[in-house]
Amino acid sequence: MRVLVLGGTGVIGSAVVREIIARGHEVLGLARSETSATKLRQSGATPLSGDIAAPERWVTALPHVEAVIHMACDFTSDMAAVDRRLLDALLPALAAQPHRARFIYTGGCWQFGATGEEAATEASPFDPLPAFAWMVPHLGRVLASPHIDGIVIHPAMVYAGAGGAFRRFAREAVERDAIRVVGSEAVRWALVHSGDLGALYALALERAPNGESYMGASVEAMPIGRIARAFARRYGTARQEPDIISSDAIAAELGDWARGYALDQRLSGAKARRELGWQPKHLDPEAEIARLA
Ligand SMILES: NC(=O)c1ccc[n+]([C@@H]2O[C@H](COP(=O)([O-])OP(=O)(O)OC[C@H]3O[C@@H](n4cnc5c(N)ncnc54)[C@H](OP(=O)(O)O)[C@@H]3O)[C@@H](O)[C@H]2O)c1
Repeated sequence: MRVLVLGGTGVIGSAVVREIIARGHEVLGLARSETSATKLRQSGATPLSGDIAAPERWVTALPHVEAVIHMACDFTSDMAAVDRRLLDALLPALAAQPHRARFIYTGGCWQFGATGEEAATEASPFDPLPAFAWMVPHLGRVLASPHIDGIVIHPAMVYAGAGGAFRRFAREAVERDAIRVVGSEAVRWALVHSGDLGALYALALERAPNGESYMGASVEAMPIGRIARAFARRYGTARQEPDIISSDAIAAELGDWARGYALDQRLSGAKARRELGWQPKHLDPEAEIARLA
């Protein structure tokens, strides 16, 4: 398929680009800078100059594509308006293409609030983190759009080695005398390795029916204290016990969206395994941390 990727240089996007190119798809990647264009070229994609904050400048000259995968976000206070204007411009442009296009939209685990013991599934009601509540109508719009095949993927917390959601743990393990965790050591995150998530997007691109959503979670729930302690052990951090900080403290440092780090969640990726044949390979993050270089 000929696929336009938005956010193809990010934590999720770079894994998705790698996977779909390996499976023989042709990838065009939106690039807002020469740095992003270079990264896309290096991964085998063709850069298309444009910014999601100014979609009118590039959707009018949209090349013919069979699918769009949207994984771009700048995490600023403007992200809701940027995403709404993007959908306002892009969905009609896709509807005007000669063939019906597939559109994969990235939701997220933080749409499902603190879940308690029962794992959230695609059928669970939304209970979004306030900073991402704007996304709920966008999800509905993509799934209900009559002129495209809309599909949603809700990634769990995405990690790869010491990167993605693990980057802060790895950095603090070497830069501070203790790693900080938000809320409590007992807060659980659902996790997915970026390579496994890339495979899920590829399966969704090739097989998902119109209107379906999938949780991208391979590890249902892992206490963040165990992740922090695994990094502290691996890098010989002075104090092995993590420092507990409040969600107010992390929000002051990174923005309100970072309150999501304190959400205690359990998410099920069973639907993607059952219906798309997804077979995630990374099921033991602690063992992976112990093996890090
Ligand atoms: N990572 C997770 O654990 C996780 C979990 C669940 C959901 N999500 C959701 O997944 C999406 C992507 O997350 P991520 O972690 O992959 O983010 P990321 O690593 O920060 O990547 C963001 C991507 O968006 C691109 N981008 C940002 N602003 C842009 C603009 N104005 N125009 C064009 N491209 C722009 C960036 O490109 P350049 O910087 O190269 O220009 C980059 O490719 C977000 O909506 C996030 O909420 C993430």
